[in-house]
Amino acid sequence: MADYLGGWKRSHMCGTLTSANLNEEVTLMGWVQRARNLGKLIFVDLRDREGIVQVVFDEDLCGSQAFALAKSLSREYVLAVRGKVNMRGEGVVNHKMKTGEIEVAVREAKLLNQSETPPIYIEDDAKEAENVRLKYRYLDLRRPVMQRTLKLRSQVLSIVRRHMEKENFFEIETPILTKSTPEGARDYLVPSRVHPGEFYALPQSPQIYKQLLMLAGYDRYFQIARCFRDEDSRADRQPEFTQCDMEMSFIEPEDIQSVVEGIYSDIFREIKGIELQLPLRRMTWRDAMDQYGSDKPDTRFDMKIVNLDSVLANSGFKVFDEAIAEGRTVRGINAKGAGAKLSRKEIDALGEFVKTYHVKGLAWATIGADGSIRSSFAKFVKPEVFEALKEAMGAEPGDALFLISDKKLTALTALGQLRLRLGHELNLIDENTYDLFWITEFPLLEWSDEENRFVAQHHPFTSQMDEDFDLMETDPGAVRAKAYDLVLNGFEMGSGSIRIHASDLQERMFRLLGFTHEQAWNRFGFLLEAFKYGTPPHGGFAFGVDRLIMILAGRDNLRDVIAFPKAQNASCLMMQTPSAVSPEQLELLKIKVCEPSDENEAGDTL
Ligand code: AMO
Repeated sequence: MADYLGGWKRSHMCGTLTSANLNEEVTLMGWVQRARNLGKLIFVDLRDREGIVQVVFDEDLCGSQAFALAKSLSREYVLAVRGKVNMRGEGVVNHKMKTGEIEVAVREAKLLNQSETPPIYIEDDAKEAENVRLKYRYLDLRRPVMQRTLKLRSQVLSIVRRHMEKENFFEIETPILTKSTPEGARDYLVPSRVHPGEFYALPQSPQIYKQLLMLAGYDRYFQIARCFRDEDSRADRQPEFTQCDMEMSFIEPEDIQSVVEGIYSDIFREIKGIELQLPLRRMTWRDAMDQYGSDKPDTRFDMKIVNLDSVLANSGFKVFDEAIAEGRTVRGINAKGAGAKLSRKEIDALGEFVKTYHVKGLAWATIGADGSIRSSFAKFVKPEVFEALKEAMGAEPGDALFLISDKKLTALTALGQLRLRLGHELNLIDENTYDLFWITEFPLLEWSDEENRFVAQHHPFTSQMDEDFDLMETDPGAVRAKAYDLVLNGFEMGSGSIRIHASDLQERMFRLLGFTHEQAWNRFGFLLEAFKYGTPPHGGFAFGVDRLIMILAGRDNLRDVIAFPKAQNASCLMMQTPSAVSPEQLELLKIKVCEPSDENEAGDTL
């Protein structure tokens, strides 16, 4: 029989009780983690959001009715108890539990609800497959690790809000039913009943709204904003995610960067007890690519990429010589001490791995403890060139050298990925290090072979660096943007830029991106029109809240830090969404659904 509260009022959360509460009379309510019947005594682990406490039923103290109730308890029953906080006896203190020094001697108990045997175990090291846990997410969320993570998430958001208030920002909400914004992913569309055949788009970010808020005079805006992007899921990407989004007027990049640094500094101090050294260091995009082959380098380990063009220009090996002569490049990394650890089979696997990044192959050499060489290319290059190569790469006995020759960006990207893989496989990464820094001077534009035109690297409202203004039409690929990313441990935490605030420059940008005047006005007319009315110089930034929580919580998938995430195929296994709707609803929206083709059919795998 399930009671309602019957006048009982909870006095404490289970997980908060310690020896400081000794001898207090407490009323607790929670779920039965487990019950152990030792005959005269029944021990029950009672759990709530804050943790678990041991409560003890002794028939002499609680009476036969409560004792009978204790005997009937099963996992996940909802129970209320009243009793006194006692020290646990010598030898039964559990140092692993926050509440491990004490227990509650039950005087009265009330069953608030029963539970069927849950389909998953409510324990931290859950063994069930993730799709079962996602189906029963409301039970999965009872696991202590999930409760700790969502608590952390709430604490971080509260730190953000406190900081933004201190910095005099307004929190302003922007629409969810909106128009497509050019963030680069596909939009989620919402059909309109009132305007049949027309659609809203869910925002990929509040980008245009926040710029319009600057125009409207609401300098210093921020929002914990939900964003929607229909792109392929990855461990660090969800279709629906949260940004801490902000925008300021009359500022230079350093002004917004210092606000962001302040937020991160508060978060790291309060959550991790770590004092960040401010201002954070800056690395240009060019240096990041040259040294790490990535615009979000994991700098927790070294293994920098080396330019070998001058060393190998006349190596005697046709592959290198031709590549360099024809304007391609040869770059390499030295995996220190890996020479002895990597088998031939493992090296071949690395060769296959880099090919997925569109390079033809991987040249390698390992140096034995006695100086002996195993190599895929050493025999083709002049001995003195090989010596010079070793010197350029700082090679010592025991090292493994990996070289790639290709177009510059292709070679760098592939080596960057190889570097990351080796960093993980060789255990070079200290998981307790947080390396947070800025990447600056991104290229404004990126050539798209697919579209045969330049596309905006960040988004089309990003301003060019003043020094590069004259290159806009003569050498667009070389123009750098006033754009900056925040990088932490190999993840892009956030992005921002100074925006174009003059309509003539914005139109010029659209022209560079291959839009005609009409196309630009058709798509962004409202913005170009707005920009005519005194737009202040402005800029902003947004960081991914989910990604930050994932790193702070030491998890490796965003699903672990979002209360109700989507599975890999963008479905929600718990609600069974997306789902078909009734013919009447479709009729109202004037929508006809075609039979889904096989490739569009979503299974419920992760
Ligand atoms: P951007 O597109 O770089 O910039 O996004 C900013 C940050 O949001 C996070 N993020 C994601 N997190 C989880 N899942 C996703 N699918 C996902 N996509 C992005 C990342 C990223 O760094 N409007 C601009 C910001 C600006 O210019 O002010 C923007 O949205 O952490």
